[in-house]
Amino acid sequence: MQHNPCRASRSRPHSVLLELSHSSRRRRPPPNRATEINPRFSPASAAASDLPTPRPPGNRDLPTMASMMQPQIILLKEGTDTSQGRAQVVSNINACTSVADMVRTTLGPRGMDKLIHDDKGGTTISNDGATIMRLLEIVHPAAKILVDIAKSQDSEVGDGTTTVVLLAAEFLKEAKPYIEDGVHPHSLIRSYRTAGHLAIEKVKELATSIEGKSLEEKKSLLAKCAATTLSSKLIGGEKEFFASMVVDAVLAISNDDRLNLLGIKKVPGGTMRDSFLVNGVAFKKTFSYAGFEQQPKKFLSPKILLLNIELELKSEKENAEIRLSDPLQYQSIVDAEWNIIYDKLDKCVKSGAKIVLSRLAIGDLATQYFADRDIFCAGRVAEEDLQRVAAATGGTVQTSVNNVIDEVLGSCEVFEERQVGNERFNIFSGCPSGQTATIVLRGGADQFIEEAERSLHDAIMIVRRALKNSTVVPGGGAIDMEISKYLRQHARTIAGKSQFFVNSFAKALEVIPRQLCDNAGFDATDVLNKLRQKHASGEGANYGVDINTGGIADSFANFVWEPAVVKINAINAATEAACLILSVDETVKNPKSESAQGDAAAGAMAGRGGAAMRGRGGRGMRRR
Ligand SMILES: Nc1ncnc2c1ncn2[C@@H]1O[C@H](COP(=O)(O)OP(=O)(O)OP(=O)(O)O)[C@@H](O)[C@H]1O
Ligand SMILES: [Mg+2]
Repeated sequence: MQHNPCRASRSRPHSVLLELSHSSRRRRPPPNRATEINPRFSPASAAASDLPTPRPPGNRDLPTMASMMQPQIILLKEGTDTSQGRAQVVSNINACTSVADMVRTTLGPRGMDKLIHDDKGGTTISNDGATIMRLLEIVHPAAKILVDIAKSQDSEVGDGTTTVVLLAAEFLKEAKPYIEDGVHPHSLIRSYRTAGHLAIEKVKELATSIEGKSLEEKKSLLAKCAATTLSSKLIGGEKEFFASMVVDAVLAISNDDRLNLLGIKKVPGGTMRDSFLVNGVAFKKTFSYAGFEQQPKKFLSPKILLLNIELELKSEKENAEIRLSDPLQYQSIVDAEWNIIYDKLDKCVKSGAKIVLSRLAIGDLATQYFADRDIFCAGRVAEEDLQRVAAATGGTVQTSVNNVIDEVLGSCEVFEERQVGNERFNIFSGCPSGQTATIVLRGGADQFIEEAERSLHDAIMIVRRALKNSTVVPGGGAIDMEISKYLRQHARTIAGKSQFFVNSFAKALEVIPRQLCDNAGFDATDVLNKLRQKHASGEGANYGVDINTGGIADSFANFVWEPAVVKINAINAATEAACLILSVDETVKNPKSESAQGDAAAGAMAGRGGAAMRGRGGRGMRRR
């Protein structure tokens, strides 16, 4: 037994095992169960003993003595599956292309939505690239990289998740013929990295700043960015209505990085236009005990006490034993319990608060006690809502009712409990610190409201990004066409093969306007020709696809704007992902990791360009 140093450096050490056996017949494993070493990796000594031995003529099928003595070399664990070489790179490219095909049709204002239902009966309708990719449960190891870049785009920028997946897949698709023709992946990677860098620099150069504008101007510019994001979503029909709502909400928390200060509450029923923004906090009425209905439901400038303690009578443990010598003592024990809770309630009332909220339960005794004193109370308030009330009203959450001073109490202009659809809502508005906002979302089906929430999340992220980075670029494929033109011009100045690769990168960028046309049912070739012509003339840098007429239009003038950071992040992430996938020329599947994934995954993982999705049953070819 001996380790092969050459192989050990290429794989995980624990799975590499070189077994040199001289009694090969006895110890040879069944051919389909162990991976035999590729002759290129044989150590010199093993190779020397592997010299071909002439076989006796006419006796070809019988094993010769020499072949019986041939040492069997086992490198990897039994059951390990490897695929390698150029075919593996092409296979990974094919897998990524089929993943991109799944989200391709969702791009743009005329994009379609996907309905995904899981084995638990849950149904999701979405247009959001990241959500679709997450729900697809992709198991192909290379294609998973696309899922990761979609997720990272979602958390970093919020929008452009379909764009990033399409770009990465298109870069790979353009690289495929070169790989098949024998170009070394590293030549492509080098050129792609240079092209990606140049493209990002160009986006920065072309971006228009919205810095130094008045608040009103800024608001309308930000609303344009939000409207562009929303135009491709289910709620696109009401994009202006929601865009201004999102801008107001984001400006309310502009100085704070905590996104959870901005709440979205979903109330099924009504129409989209019934949605409203609360400049403060709103949450669904919590569970309440008898006595609650006697409490007042509206206050002007109330003081608010926020607690993290239970206001409930505690019963003793079942097996508690108290020995009394005098029956009169029993009453004093019962009284002690009541005194504790009454003492707490008394302190709450004395603090001067008119509203008492607690993260823990407020029992029936306390509810009635507060009702008798015209105080409103709500127990079991969600942590997140309580924190938002604290941030908005300037109060501090207390863990004891002793020494409640005025400074820890919050306040707001108006508190009221209001009916919204079928739900009762507690609404705190006119909050002094003004650091929170809540969007109450209305709509028909649950799936619709869920998707509306995801769309608003995209728009909120975009407005926040645009506010921070203050630069925007024209959308509708305009910026992509302009960078493509720039890279083609640049390619002409490069000598050698790299010229082709940079050209391919430039061509891949055209996938965005092409897909926008395809999804809208326009003639993509015709529109792209017009766009190329316009951009080449030097005066049409802002021209993109006109989604209404099927021609071309100035996207900037039509207010189809996107924050520059969306494009910069998308090009960066897509280039990195494409380079990463191109640099992988071998996939090794460790048998140990197989059990969790199941057989369906196993087929797809080693499959050459087969289906990448679980359950699609692609024909996976394995190299043994
Ligand atoms: N009114 C419009 N006219 C032309 N193109 C538009 C318009 N509105 C948006 N677009 C374009 O649609 C594309 C965005 O589409 P979409 O929102 O479906 O995908 P995404 O932003 O990449 O991904 P996701 O929103 O799923 O995270 C952008 O290229 C944008 O410029
Ligand atoms: Mg979008």
